[in-house]
Amino acid sequence: MHLAPPPLVDPFARAIGYLRVSVTDRCDFRCVYCMAENMTFLPKAELLTLEELDRLCSAFVRLGVQKLRITGGEPLVRKGILTFFRAMSRHLASGALRELTLTTNGSQLARFAADLAAAGVRRVNVSLDTLDAAKFARITRWGRLPQVLEGIRAATAAGLKVKINAVALRGFNEDELFALVEWCAAEGHDLTFIEVMPMGDMGNEDRLDQYWPLDDLRARLATRYTLNDTPERTGGPARYVRLAETGQRIGFITPLTHNFCESCNRVRLTCTGELYMCLGQEDMADLRAPLRASGDDALLEAAIRAAIARKPRGHDFDYSRQSVAGQVSRHMSHTGG
Ligand code: GTP
Ligand code: 5AD
Ligand code: SF4
Repeated sequence: MHLAPPPLVDPFARAIGYLRVSVTDRCDFRCVYCMAENMTFLPKAELLTLEELDRLCSAFVRLGVQKLRITGGEPLVRKGILTFFRAMSRHLASGALRELTLTTNGSQLARFAADLAAAGVRRVNVSLDTLDAAKFARITRWGRLPQVLEGIRAATAAGLKVKINAVALRGFNEDELFALVEWCAAEGHDLTFIEVMPMGDMGNEDRLDQYWPLDDLRARLATRYTLNDTPERTGGPARYVRLAETGQRIGFITPLTHNFCESCNRVRLTCTGELYMCLGQEDMADLRAPLRASGDDALLEAAIRAAIARKPRGHDFDYSRQSVAGQVSRHMSHTGG
């Protein structure tokens, strides 16, 4: 009889069932809170091949991972990425994976949506902070709103459920709160707001100026809608409400105002095989060396277990003393959020 290996459990008794995989550090946008304008990207030779990423992800699936989210940079700019999605769909077919999904800026969705759906993707998260084309160009530096809206329409047409991710930014999209909510209601998209996290080398003042606590956003939403808490979960950090008036679902990701690390179920793999056990800490484990050291996965599995055994309790992000604490030096694009 073949016995499943024991599941991955960290020192705080949290079961790790969610792997986020950044398949490239590149992106066709330069969102101001995510990247510097002049990023130096990894030489292509540094990247794991898609076959190596397959071996790594499959090892995690064997160790009990049930949710796989592909991120970047922008995952859909990685060459051959559809081949990788098709390969991962075998784990959906076997029943080992419950969800295969991605977080994208939407720029390439028009091209990929139908094939992603055919590979078993059911849901995509699309980052969209504003519905104003000029503001969109400002926040993404290089992005074009119409292209993203076309991508979102293509995803819906292909039968994919779309969740919009909006980073809540003081003085930037505060005035669009109701516009975003109404647009998502009309289009049938879930919507999640995210508190801006101190990742990458930005001045302290920028972060504090940008920060719009979701407590405040929520209170403003409640001036127009009835917010009913719901226990519904998507397996990520968002907590959801339903608006009584429209029935739509709104999520809140609140690393600053309501820490959710206690129920963390995830780790992050980069395109060079680094495993980050926490988004908000610098510690990582190299999985590329054990992967390449042998064709057998024993070393790799041991390295994964050793890494999970040092997963920290959580991040140390804190803006409460009018300064930025707990900042992490790498950019968000390194691990894909
Ligand atoms: P769902 O499957 O829809 O629940 O997705 P998700 O929220 O897990 O993933 P998504 O890629 O949409 O992430 C949304 C935001 O949540 C990103 O900004 C992530 O950085 C942030 N996020 C996800 N996991 C964590 C975490 O463990 N800690 C912190 N601080 N932020 C996280
Ligand atoms: N703080 C919070 N969210 C961020 N994202 C990128 N950078 C940051 C940041 N500094 C979001 C993107 C995307 C998700 C993966 O992470 O908007 O939706
Ligand atoms: Fe690209 Fe996403 Fe970062 Fe924006 S947030 S620069 S879309 S990786």
